[in-house]
Parts: sequence; C-alpha cells; structure tokens
Amino acid sequence: MADKPEIVAVSDDSLARAADILRAGGLVAFPTETVYGLGGDAANDKAVARIYKAKGRPDFNPLIVHVPDVNAARRLVVFDARAEALAQQFWPGPLTLVLPRAENCPVSRLASAGLDTLAVRCPKAPVAQALLKAAGCPVAAPSANRSGSLSPTTPAHVADSLGGAVDLILAGGKCAVGLESTVLDLTEDPAVILRPGSVTPADLDGLVAVAAAANENEAAPKSPGRLLKHYAPKTPLRLNAVDVKVGEALLAFGPEKFIGVEGVGAVKDMPESRRRNLSESGDLVEAAANLFAYLHDLDAGEFKAIAVMPVPEEGLGVAINDRLRRAAA
Ligand code: TXA
Ligand code: MG
Repeated sequence: MADKPEIVAVSDDSLARAADILRAGGLVAFPTETVYGLGGDAANDKAVARIYKAKGRPDFNPLIVHVPDVNAARRLVVFDARAEALAQQFWPGPLTLVLPRAENCPVSRLASAGLDTLAVRCPKAPVAQALLKAAGCPVAAPSANRSGSLSPTTPAHVADSLGGAVDLILAGGKCAVGLESTVLDLTEDPAVILRPGSVTPADLDGLVAVAAAANENEAAPKSPGRLLKHYAPKTPLRLNAVDVKVGEALLAFGPEKFIGVEGVGAVKDMPESRRRNLSESGDLVEAAANLFAYLHDLDAGEFKAIAVMPVPEEGLGVAINDRLRRAAA
C-alpha cells in the first residue's frame, strides 16, 4: 500500500480511470454534495471489506449504497409508494432511504452488515453523478475519513485522513452541504429519521409520516446501538470453538486441520453444506468479505449451533469479532 494517495483533477480521463478502479475492486474517494465518500463496488465483497479496513472502523456499521438514478435503486431495494414520492421530490439530493433488499439484490451482505435492509442514496453533485454512471455498479461509500475523525469536505481532508489506503482521490473542490445526508428508515411506518441531515422533518412533512420520537434532538449520537439493528442469525453461535459438536455447523478461520469433529473426525469429511471457511489463509480482508454471506448460508441449514473458530483481535478482526459477539448475544 502506498502511503500517499494519487489526487487527480476531474476530467473525462480521470473519471474513466476512477470508474475502472471501482470495477476492478479498488477504492476511489469522490465528492458528493454532502461530504467526500470512500467508494467501492458494493457488489464486490472484498472491495467492501477494504472500505471498512481503510476506515479502521471497529464494527460493521452498514454502508450507504450510491446509485445514479431511481431506476438503479429499484434494482437493489423494494420501493413502496412513500419511497417513490420521496425519490421524486428529493433525488438527486441528500436524502438516504432505508428499504428492504430486493430479491436477487447484488449488493454484498457486508455492505448492509448482514441486514435484510439497504440504505440507498442518489447524490446530486455532478462529479458523483458522472462517476456512478461511468462505473455502472452500485457504489458503497461512507465518508472518506478514518473512523472517529471528522468528515472530509475537501480532497486534502481525505488525503490527510486516509493516506494510501485509497487508490485515487477525485479532486472536485469543496462539498456544498458539508454534512452527511439525512437517513430515513422506510421499513417502519411512520418512517424514522436515523440520522438528521439537511433534509429536515419539516421538508418531509406532507409527503411521509415521520415518527415523533425520531426528531433531531433524539437522533443517532445519543444511542446509536438503539437505532441500529444488528444482524442476528436464528441459529445460536458458539464462539472461540476448538472443535465441532454433533449437530453443529462450522464457521472456520485459517487452517482447519486441528479442529476435531464429533462423530466425523475431520473437517474435510464434513459435508460442504455444514462448513464454511472465512479465509483459509487467515486473511482478515477476505474473512470480513465472507462473514455475513457465510453466516446467512449456515443459518439457512437446520443446525443446533454454529461453532465459530477464534478470529485474531487485530485490524479488521476487531470488527469481525464485534459482529460475531453481537450475533452470538
Ligand atoms: O452524505 C452521506 O450520506 C455520505 C456521502 C459520502 O454520501 N455517506 C455516508 O455514508 O455518510 P455512511 O456509510 O457513513 O453512512 C451510513 C449511515 C449510518 O448512520 C448507518 O448506520 C446508516 O447510514 N445505515 C446504512 N445502512 C443502514 C441500514 N440498512 N439500516 C439502518 N441504517 C443504515
Ligand atoms: Mg462518517
């Protein structure tokens, strides 16, 4: 990883290059009207895992998926009448809608942290629009800063915060709004504002009913855990497992040869449907990329429990363990 990112002015050439980088699984920082986003192909598990790694995020807070227009959004999520009305009124613009994932939604399970919902946003900034159109893939993009530092509104902020963790920064000047988009949960009725932004409850008035408790004074920072749902498999998880018991499935990490399987003997003799390995080589980016998809796979089987091998508490492992502990709770 280089320690300095490449910063390029916006041009037809640099936009085409940025789109190529996204399609190849790389990360591109780009301006939206709110803040600079750290973009990666939302349908590519590894690209999404690299976003979390670059941000040094201690958990897998679900990401917003960016699309160029309503049609692209309809391929990812199920639109209801409220979503149609809001998109018509505010898109492109700083309003993010949380909706149920569509059947055959191509977006990585990691991008939505394993949830059956997805946050979609259609940004207004011309550079963001041009990049999304050129890339042709849904783009997951949290703010382009290390976790815990300020959201970036200039290319210099991005470079200072992320360094070489981003492949390319599209320098499109200062962001007009400077504050992240309003996040509105439409899986509830009345809808719930999960994050206040420049689209206010007053703006939404008349278009959609918004729950009173979710006004700006009560929103996210007070209790992010309360507002954010977590993925919870129906099968119990048994963490830090060193063996597999009768009736259990295995979620492995790294070499499996020392794991004993009651009644079977060796992991290699277990049926495929009963085991997944997050990363045989012990690569945490690969493991993060596979985490939610594999949990979903094993949860679909009728297992008594999922035995989960230990994952090292370092780098992305911290976020992986955070999610595993929540899923086990
Ligand atoms: O203005 C913005 O929205 C910027 C620019 C780059 O577009 N993006 C941004 O993305 O702030 P991100 O990923 O940092 O914001 C994610 C927010 C978090 O508060 C997260 O909890 C919420 O959206 N969120 C995402 N998916 C969700 C879901 N499925 N359910 C509930 N909340 C979700
Ligand atoms: Mg942020």
